[in-house]
Amino acid sequence: MNFYKIARSILFKFEAEKAHHLTINGLRAMQLLGITSLMTPRVKNNSIKVMGLTFPNRIGLAAGLDKSGHCINGFGSMGFGFVEIGTITPRPQSGNPQPRLFRLKNHEAIINRMGFNNPGIDKAIDNVTKSAKGYDGIVGINIGKNKITPNEKALDDYMILLRKAYGIADYITINVSSPNTSGLRELQSPEFARGLLSPLMKERNNLREDHGKNVPIAVKLDPDMSHEQINLLADLFLELKIDAVIATNTTISRDEVKKHHLASEQGGLSGKPIHSKSNEAISKFYGALNDDIPIIGVGGISSKKDAEEKIAAGAKLLQIYTGLVYQGPSLVKELLSIE
Ligand SMILES: Cc1cc2nc3c(=O)[nH]c(=O)nc-3n(C[C@H](O)[C@H](O)[C@H](O)COP(=O)(O)O)c2cc1C
Repeated sequence: MNFYKIARSILFKFEAEKAHHLTINGLRAMQLLGITSLMTPRVKNNSIKVMGLTFPNRIGLAAGLDKSGHCINGFGSMGFGFVEIGTITPRPQSGNPQPRLFRLKNHEAIINRMGFNNPGIDKAIDNVTKSAKGYDGIVGINIGKNKITPNEKALDDYMILLRKAYGIADYITINVSSPNTSGLRELQSPEFARGLLSPLMKERNNLREDHGKNVPIAVKLDPDMSHEQINLLADLFLELKIDAVIATNTTISRDEVKKHHLASEQGGLSGKPIHSKSNEAISKFYGALNDDIPIIGVGGISSKKDAEEKIAAGAKLLQIYTGLVYQGPSLVKELLSIE
């Protein structure tokens, strides 16, 4: 039995969100004590250039686990070549009422309706500055609008976030695909997406001049879109020269977990049951983007085989979340052995 299996059997006795906080606090404590490197797997250099950035390897931590940016070095020590923090909103917000996080153990899945609980961009920048010290991987900052901001004003929120995060992020992810902020996914409609992304890309180009560095912009999408919507968005992304697509966020579908007693909980489903669905979205985007925009593949990776299937579908980089909860850091090590 490996160490994480023992830790997991204890953690899973706690309610899911409590277990999450225990894990993050444990990792923070290890960071403070400077002992996170004890976890670091020995791997050969597998660096890869994507979006103009050199990633030490292609395995990243997906957004939502280090929501506040407290544990970048801690997660980095598990071997991650990149860590995406957030989603961060302009102002702090507490998210939806608890309980809002549910384990579907027999499916190795999670349903969450967290609702962007986060400390706000100013505090997040402070956290990142501290916790990225000593980490030599890539740091992504995932940004989203506050719950109270109507879609018509969403651009204002993303603009504030882009300007504030630019100085410390290696790349920035525009999140328009979480199912837990009412109306957010409407921003993925081609009309809204143009109104949002076009000014943000213009502002990014201004910031590039001001800061003397280029920070690539990725857009994170859901797996529930039609093929037609994917094609329309792909055309827009090519026109606006978006730097990367992250596919995918969680699904609102329950097809794969219909009989589970928690299936009717509202929120986004992640983990094993979304693997194929997210691969389908990746393949469709890959076909529509002609390999001109790289895809970061995420959704249900829980083995080396899953990761290889994502790469075969068209993903250049990979991210994990739910697989890490169920399998622990040994999954990162396994994925790092991919050629
Ligand atoms: C509890 C939880 C919270 C999440 N929070 C966010 C978030 O704040 N922003 C975001 O872009 N994605 C968020 N995600 C989605 C993940 O980043 C990822 O896209 C999704 O879970 C699919 O990957 P997985 O099957 O490996 O978990 C969250 C996922 C979970 C399980």
